[in-house]
Amino acid sequence: EAHAETGAKRFDFKEVTAGVDADHHVAEGYDADVLLRWGDGLFPDSPDFDPTNQTPESQARQFGYNNDFVGFIPIDGSSEHGLLVVNHEYTNEHLMFPGIVKVEGEELVVAPADQKRVDIEMAAHGGTIVEIRKVDGKWQVVRDGAKNRRIMSTTEMQLSGPAAGHDRLKTSTDATGTKVFGTLNNCAGGVTPWGTYVMAEENFHGYFMGELPGGHREAANYERYGVPEGSYEWGKFHDRFDLSKEPNEPNRFGWVVEVDVEDPNSVPKKRTALGRFKHEGAESIVAPDGRVVFYLGDDERFDYVYKFVTAGKYNPDDRAANMDLLDDGTLHVAKFDEDGTVTWMPLTFGEGPLTAENGFESQADVLIETRRAADLLGATPMDRPEDIEPNGSNGRVYVMLTNNTKRKEANAANPRLDNAFGHIVEIAEDGGDFAATSGRWEILVKCGDPSVADVGATFSTATTENGWFGMPDNCAVDSDGRLWISTDGNSPKATGRTDGLWAMETEGEGRGTSKLFYRVPVGAEMCGPRPTPDLATFFVAVQHPGDGGEDWEGFGRPSYYEDPSTRWPDFKDDMPVRPSVVAITKQGGGKIASS
Ligand code: FEO
Ligand code: CA
Ligand code: CA
Ligand code: CA
Repeated sequence: EAHAETGAKRFDFKEVTAGVDADHHVAEGYDADVLLRWGDGLFPDSPDFDPTNQTPESQARQFGYNNDFVGFIPIDGSSEHGLLVVNHEYTNEHLMFPGIVKVEGEELVVAPADQKRVDIEMAAHGGTIVEIRKVDGKWQVVRDGAKNRRIMSTTEMQLSGPAAGHDRLKTSTDATGTKVFGTLNNCAGGVTPWGTYVMAEENFHGYFMGELPGGHREAANYERYGVPEGSYEWGKFHDRFDLSKEPNEPNRFGWVVEVDVEDPNSVPKKRTALGRFKHEGAESIVAPDGRVVFYLGDDERFDYVYKFVTAGKYNPDDRAANMDLLDDGTLHVAKFDEDGTVTWMPLTFGEGPLTAENGFESQADVLIETRRAADLLGATPMDRPEDIEPNGSNGRVYVMLTNNTKRKEANAANPRLDNAFGHIVEIAEDGGDFAATSGRWEILVKCGDPSVADVGATFSTATTENGWFGMPDNCAVDSDGRLWISTDGNSPKATGRTDGLWAMETEGEGRGTSKLFYRVPVGAEMCGPRPTPDLATFFVAVQHPGDGGEDWEGFGRPSYYEDPSTRWPDFKDDMPVRPSVVAITKQGGGKIASS
């Protein structure tokens, strides 16, 4: 326990005051510089961003919308030159397009989409790979970077692994069941030990509309995943998003996608071995025997925590030898027992209830209906599993459980009914082996305002009135083994503060102490975070600034209304709010949050 003595001193910075206003705020002595905004050019030929003249073609050459996961892949081991990889999770039409929203009473009414708007939305989804470099202490985008790339909802991808080619993945335009276009709703993600970019398809159900043909075999499958939800109007213009026309298309989403960033023409692979659900993230670590372990959350109320263990071993000396590790391995789902044991149960065809009697004819069926397979195994229903991060320096794993206001029945790992503020579970795998099939778990912290007794929050008493938070979502472990948490859902109404980035002590006497390092503008959600290996930079992603949600009145008026709550980050009358990646550095240089 190397850190036991140092306790809370591991985070050395002056805390930001929690609150709500139009701007972002970082701890004193730090700079928070906007690096990439929605619409910024990524290539030498990228057109300038013009919110009044958006086109699918220009969006395809520009940074996409709603940056979520941020990864940094060093070039030649540098912490000052690398590839930034960023997920573009989804689009907020009311914030993107001028003139399409009317306020009717309490309601925002968004005008129906036309094809051009839909095609812009599709180009704004996906991901960005872009070379960046630190020059004189400040980060710059390298617009002529040879590996720069936009991945979109139209990018050709390959289905690989056990479910690839299965009849249930075939469509009228793809008789092979292996060729799919695009990736949707990529939330958190990961970078593998071999330097590929992993995107996690989360809420894919929102993109589908229409009705399955009567008696279709996928009816129960889709019901378990909430397909179709119909948030988007893409199916009006693209048949594949209409279930009545292309009933198998939803089976081609909800996967983990791996992208080889070294080749900008590589075909991204949907790795079916990692299961199909509302994948939140896919952070990984190498186990002692060389197998690679991926921790996977399924973000829905009462859904599960998973991990995938590769069959093969990581080869640190041969990148090419690792490129298909994700096609072969064992997916497990977690059962959190009352006695503090966690058991990782394999989702393997033919074992236990995963047989023909229950409608599984092959491993492909188990993977396509991962949730139903996990239901049958008796996995523990959780309070919305979001990002999950292994920490190689203390052998633990941190599970963000964002909230679950529908919980009426508690279990030990999800002890609060009507859990409005979420909690964090810490797992210690048996023998410190991340590939182990069992371990111990405990709750690191129950979130929310500790000064309100009914909330039942359990931050340490050293946590200040600024230091507590609700709704943990993304997280990162830095190269000193310190845990950082970003939140989704703090607001004037919910917690009297915006979302932000909090430092969370996990060791020693200070365990459970949280401190606010950075906070976002009104209406935004905090994503990322991504520290560089030298800890001199934290990249954070400010998602949907100015989006009011339930609190929009008086606080979240977006920039296309009169008297907007914010025009972050440009603060110009002719510019909308723009989701952006921010680079945080210490004034004068040096390691963040260290003296
Ligand atoms: Fe996209 Fe679960 O947050
Ligand atoms: Ca998330
Ligand atoms: Ca993470
Ligand atoms: Ca989120």
